[in-house]
Amino acid sequence: MPLDPPRPLLPTYGRTVFALAAVYVHFLLFAQFGFLAQLQSRLQEAAQVQAAMAWMGGMGLLASFATVYLARRWGAPKLVRPALVACAVVAALSPAATAPAALHVTAAAVGASVGVATVALAASLRDLVPAAAVGRTAGFATGAAYLVSNLPPLFAAPAVVRAWVPAALCLAAALWSPRPRDGQPEHGAVQPAHRWYGVGGLVVVVFAFVVLVGLDSAAFAFVQTTPALKAITWGGAGRQLLQGVVHFAAALAAGWLLDRRRLAGLLTATAALFAVAFALLANAQAVGVGPGSAWYLVTVVYAGPLYAVGISFYSTALVAFPSLAADGPGRVPRRWRAGLLFGFAGWIGSALGVGAAQQIGALPVLGAVAAAGGLPLLFLALRHRAVGRLARVAGLALLLAGIGWAVDRAATADAAGAAPAGPAERGRRVYVAEGCIHCHSQYVRPRAAHDLSWWGPHRPLDRAERPPLVGNRRQGPDLANAGNRRSALWHRLHLADPRTLDPASRMPSYAHLFATGDHRGDDLVTYLAGLGAGTLRPDDSLPATGGSPERGRELFATWCAACHGDGGRGDGPLADRFGRPAMDLGKPHFWAVSWGPGQEPIEDGLARVVRHGIAGTGMPGHEYLRDRQVADLAAWVATLPGAEAP
Ligand code: HEC
Ligand code: HEC
Repeated sequence: MPLDPPRPLLPTYGRTVFALAAVYVHFLLFAQFGFLAQLQSRLQEAAQVQAAMAWMGGMGLLASFATVYLARRWGAPKLVRPALVACAVVAALSPAATAPAALHVTAAAVGASVGVATVALAASLRDLVPAAAVGRTAGFATGAAYLVSNLPPLFAAPAVVRAWVPAALCLAAALWSPRPRDGQPEHGAVQPAHRWYGVGGLVVVVFAFVVLVGLDSAAFAFVQTTPALKAITWGGAGRQLLQGVVHFAAALAAGWLLDRRRLAGLLTATAALFAVAFALLANAQAVGVGPGSAWYLVTVVYAGPLYAVGISFYSTALVAFPSLAADGPGRVPRRWRAGLLFGFAGWIGSALGVGAAQQIGALPVLGAVAAAGGLPLLFLALRHRAVGRLARVAGLALLLAGIGWAVDRAATADAAGAAPAGPAERGRRVYVAEGCIHCHSQYVRPRAAHDLSWWGPHRPLDRAERPPLVGNRRQGPDLANAGNRRSALWHRLHLADPRTLDPASRMPSYAHLFATGDHRGDDLVTYLAGLGAGTLRPDDSLPATGGSPERGRELFATWCAACHGDGGRGDGPLADRFGRPAMDLGKPHFWAVSWGPGQEPIEDGLARVVRHGIAGTGMPGHEYLRDRQVADLAAWVATLPGAEAP
């Protein structure tokens, strides 16, 4: 009797892992961030950006459920290739959309293509790889996607790159798309009915994922818009790379655990990790930890990595869950598991989380309480039958109480004056009391010549602000987005002695606000650091070739040497305050600019760094220098060793 040679395992695995990773990179790098950056640089009003994001979420939700239906007609594996092509096409074309209407349509198309791709892949994993390896496959792909997305050159790349790299990956995955393992019997005996896959179990699992995704999205949005926290977690190339590696290792571990049916344990661990990480971040924000303080090291070493491990744990579980168990009597079919999970947890959970982060200023505390309280209890209760009903009820009650408390807080935070003034509010009072308004405005004029490119995106006037700080004079720069253009540390050094950073400054020194025992200086810095924090820097290119290195060298001595030192070796008088290796322009390869064959000249990238700074780091912009001066500076910096091609 002729025996068919067994199909080689690796190609099947490889293709599935590649397709999964491509979709995940597309989601992380493009749908979540790169595309948002495009929206923010092309739409003038925050409300329009939100509307476009709502289109994306709404279509993602619809597409998730539409996929359940399509999968019944054609089978989920058949949908994978068309969905990958759609993802690639939408991402590749997105930079061409500039008009608001086109951007809204693109947003909807992003949601739809990602919605179909995720649900189709998650529902068909079991048809593509051996049942016993579903968890590992998901873990490897998820981890690889996080690693790629956190690579510093991609993480900080221009929006176009963050659209085209995922597009190319999805296209390659479509050409090399996974095929069902036709007719191979599942190894091992049919697994016994598992409690997570009936209707009741599924409701609990979906709910748990909604909570975890919601907490993660809220915390992430919060960290990314709070410069101090961003610097601790994702600030700088080294930390981004570390986050990527931690993600990868944790996702591998999660996959291995899932193949050993440790779903509940994994989700409980996620909740616990989030609790610790958020508590650390909340503490960092509350007491304003900076380099030198005792908490700084603890926060830097633990908060970011623990958070990354938690994210990898639940993301792997999210991808693997629908296919971990076979279809069978008494179980919800796989396509429904995938549709419900990604529809509710993926799209609704993240929308709720981001919305909440915008409402409440102090979300990590809340996340810590909710995660630490309700979720682990709920899971423990469900895992141990012996503890039974009482613990289930207690767990649910705690969780509901946590949510109720959060909603209540959001409501009271809105009621003016009800909450005790935090550091930012106190800092605002200092700003009023010191009369900063006599020299500074806080309003970027949408149609004025340089306003948008110098001072960042325009926001409509807040007519409810009392007293209004919009200002009518500009002795100094507009401060509407000062929190994004300058780091907290820069603000502190500048307030104490403006002339260390701007040799010709006419701004008076406010060193007295920082006298020991006086909190006004710190509060003021917190207030400034929050102004427009997280707004995107304009993505405009500055054609800068042809500058003069000689003139650039002189300008460097005036504007840059305080931090970078005369020769750019990171040894200026202020260098110790900023962390030397990052600012040494003589170390190999700048990370903040990319250049090479087919890319912009290095001078253009450097000119952008000089003009706009590097958001979230200590490198400030120099908005008011003339184009000529910026070009000269770029020309000189381009002669330093850091500019040698990698
Ligand atoms: C007499 C006018 C004057 C007063 C009062 C004044 N500033 Fe300034 N400020 C300036 C000038 C001029 C600059 C630009 C030169 C520089 O960077 O020092 C400036 C720069 C700044 C910057 C840097 C902005 C950027 O994008 O580079 C910040 C932040 C700032 N001031 C905050 C304040 C705060 C807070 C107060 C009140 C405590 C204040 N200023 C009071 C004149 C003033
Ligand atoms: C207030 C201090 C400060 C001043 C002033 C300053 N820089 Fe920087 N710069 C930094 C820091 C800190 C970094 C490192 C950011 C990071 O990686 O976290 C940096 C990074 C850079 C980089 C990116 C290096 C890389 O590896 O990609 C360039 C280029 C640069 N600075 C050029 C300049 C030039 C040119 C000027 C003057 C116009 C200047 N800087 C002024 C603090 C400063």
